[in-house]
Amino acid sequence: MQTNWNKKVMILGSSGRLGGTLVNQYDQRHQVIPCRRVEVDLNQPETLEAALAGADVEVVINAAALTSPDVCEDDPEQARRVNADSPGRMAALCRQRGWRFIHLSTDYVFAGQGSALLDETAEAHPVNAYGRSKREGELAVLSANPEALVARVSWLFGPQGGGMPETALQRARAGQPLAFIEDKWSVPTSTVDIAQWLERLFTDLTGVQGLLHLCNTGVATWRDYAQVSLDLAHRHGLLERAYPTQGCRLRDFPAFKAARPPFTVMSNARLAWLLGMSPDTWQVALDRHMASLAQR
Ligand SMILES: NC(=O)c1ccc[n+]([C@@H]2O[C@H](COP(=O)([O-])OP(=O)(O)OC[C@H]3O[C@@H](n4cnc5c(N)ncnc54)[C@H](OP(=O)(O)O)[C@@H]3O)[C@@H](O)[C@H]2O)c1
Repeated sequence: MQTNWNKKVMILGSSGRLGGTLVNQYDQRHQVIPCRRVEVDLNQPETLEAALAGADVEVVINAAALTSPDVCEDDPEQARRVNADSPGRMAALCRQRGWRFIHLSTDYVFAGQGSALLDETAEAHPVNAYGRSKREGELAVLSANPEALVARVSWLFGPQGGGMPETALQRARAGQPLAFIEDKWSVPTSTVDIAQWLERLFTDLTGVQGLLHLCNTGVATWRDYAQVSLDLAHRHGLLERAYPTQGCRLRDFPAFKAARPPFTVMSNARLAWLLGMSPDTWQVALDRHMASLAQR
């Protein structure tokens, strides 16, 4: 059977940390249609049909979202429109037109009270407005389009910057305190790796539907994540010396408006089974990222 590997891929949230990486990674191999907020505003779900009416695409990836937990806490109505209502409409539209729809979600759908790895069957029970809006988005997407894929990701880092590696590096260079939370756990994950996994999911693994956890392998606290970032920055010549971090607790951050779920470490066993190989550990993926920062 002949498979067409070159796809017309629309990417919403193309200015974001993940969406920007997807655009750059796919640009040479697919016909990429980046979609910014000026073209499609998810805060106005009723305009989606008109905005996408003339589109010529085969795959739609929604990496757009209102991602700040504290902003969502302040404006849960906007969070619901952007993170739930619009993705649900998009899913329905894609189903009508026969387009593959991939929607990005988050480990923040979990309450984070346990200490066991969370697979796709684990109960979602969000503790803040961001998590609730994202969970509503998952349900809206899968109810409107059961063939859609909802991919949950966590603690992103990659070429677009803006993640923990850049924060830790900037703080070390500025001589600022290096205290990081050590009672919150998740899985740092490379946006470049996610781009590769997603590409399989819209080329040869097109039958995969429902929930799927897309994360590197392992577990980290914010402090682990910061410490390994600083150690790798030193090894790759981005810092002249080693910088030790200190630990602090979630309760030391009373300025957080939204509650943070403490333990949201996802299992990537389903992904590993689909790929036929285990995703790299987050440390290996982060090493690649720091090496690429050093080459800039
Ligand atoms: N970052 C993480 O560590 C993390 C962790 C777990 C899950 N996720 C999930 O991963 C996905 C991508 O996250 P990210 O970190 O790449 O997000 P991001 O960097 O905050 O980017 C969000 C994107 O959404 C767009 N957007 C926001 N409001 C919009 C609106 N009303 N209409 C149209 N576009 C809008 C933004 O456009 P503007 O540039 O115009 O604002 C931007 O392109 C999201 O679903 C997020 O929930 C991220």
